[in-house]
Amino acid sequence: MKRRAFLKTASLAGTATLISQKTPAQSPASGPKDSGTPAQGPVIISTWDFGRAVPETAFQTLMKGGTVIDAVERAVMIPEADPEVTTVGYGGYPDRNGKVTLDACIMNGNGDCGAVVFLENIMHPVSVARLVMEKTQHVVLAGEGALQFALENGFKKMNLLTPDAEAAYKEWLKTSDYKPPQASEHNHDTIGLLAMDGKGNMAGACTTSGMAWKIRGRVGDSPLIGAGLYVDNDVGGATATGIGEAVIKVAGSFLIVELMRNGKSPQEACRIALERIVHKQPRYAEKDGFVAGFVAMTKEGQIGAMSYRKGLRYSLCKDGVVSIVDADYMVK
Ligand code: GLY
Repeated sequence: MKRRAFLKTASLAGTATLISQKTPAQSPASGPKDSGTPAQGPVIISTWDFGRAVPETAFQTLMKGGTVIDAVERAVMIPEADPEVTTVGYGGYPDRNGKVTLDACIMNGNGDCGAVVFLENIMHPVSVARLVMEKTQHVVLAGEGALQFALENGFKKMNLLTPDAEAAYKEWLKTSDYKPPQASEHNHDTIGLLAMDGKGNMAGACTTSGMAWKIRGRVGDSPLIGAGLYVDNDVGGATATGIGEAVIKVAGSFLIVELMRNGKSPQEACRIALERIVHKQPRYAEKDGFVAGFVAMTKEGQIGAMSYRKGLRYSLCKDGVVSIVDADYMVK
C-alpha cells in the first residue's frame, strides 16, 4: 500500500544565494525518507502544498537570523493571507451562519505556546496566538476576547469572507447539507508547519478556518496544543491535518511526540497515531470522506508523514532543497 511518489523538487539556490554561502544540494531523485543522517541545517515540514513560498519563507527567515518562532509564524502567514486558499485565514469558507472563524496556535520547543480559537475578522490568527504566548500568562483566548486582545494590540479588523467564499456558501445554503468538502490536493485543509533551526531549536504553528459549514462555535484540533500541534526540543514535533474531531480524540500530535520519545521513528509514530484513531473509533474508517494525517520531525531533523487515506501531500525543506511529496497512506 505504501507509496512515496516524488512530485516536484526545487533547489533554493536561486532565492537563497544571498543568504546562504553553502552549495545548494541537488534535488533528490525520490521523496525524502523518514530516517537517516541528521540534517546539517534547518529543516521545515508542513502539511499540504501551499506553494514553495511557504517553506522558502521559513528557511530564509532562519538564514537571516530569525528565530524558529519567527520562521513558523511568517511561513503560515502566507496561506492565511491568500484569498485563494479556502481552508485557512482570509478566503476561508465560513460556518453555517456565513461567518469565517479562525483557529491557530504556535509553540516552541521549550513548552511556550499560545492559541486563539473562534477568532473573527483578523487575517493573521497565528500572530495573535504568538502575542498570547509572549504577552500574557494564558495559553488560549477565544472569540470576542481574542478579538478584543488583537485589536488592543494593533491588529486591524477586516471582512474575511471573500466574494468566492460567499458564493460557495450561498451554493451550500441551497441544500444546507452538513457534509464538509473532502480535503484533497485541491482542498488543502489546515496548514501545520514544523521548523528546526539546525541547532536543535524547534517550533511549530498550525492555522485554519476549520471545517466548512461547521456549526457556529465549533473549534477543531488545529489550535489545541497536543491535538493539532505539539513540539518538544528534547524529542521533536508533530502537527495534524484533516477532521479535527478525530485528531482531538487521540491527542494526536502529543501522542506522536511521546511515541518518538519512546524510540519510534517519526513515520512509525504517525502510523500508530492513525491506527489509534480508527482502532478506537472504527466508524471513521467506514466513512468515505474521512481525512486525517500528520507530519512529524525529530530534533535531529528526521521526518515522517502519513495520512489515513491517500491524498496528503507535504512540503519539505531540508538541506536547502524544497520538495513537495506525496505522504504514505494506510488506505486508498
Ligand atoms: N483540522 C482542521 C479542523 O478540523 O478544524
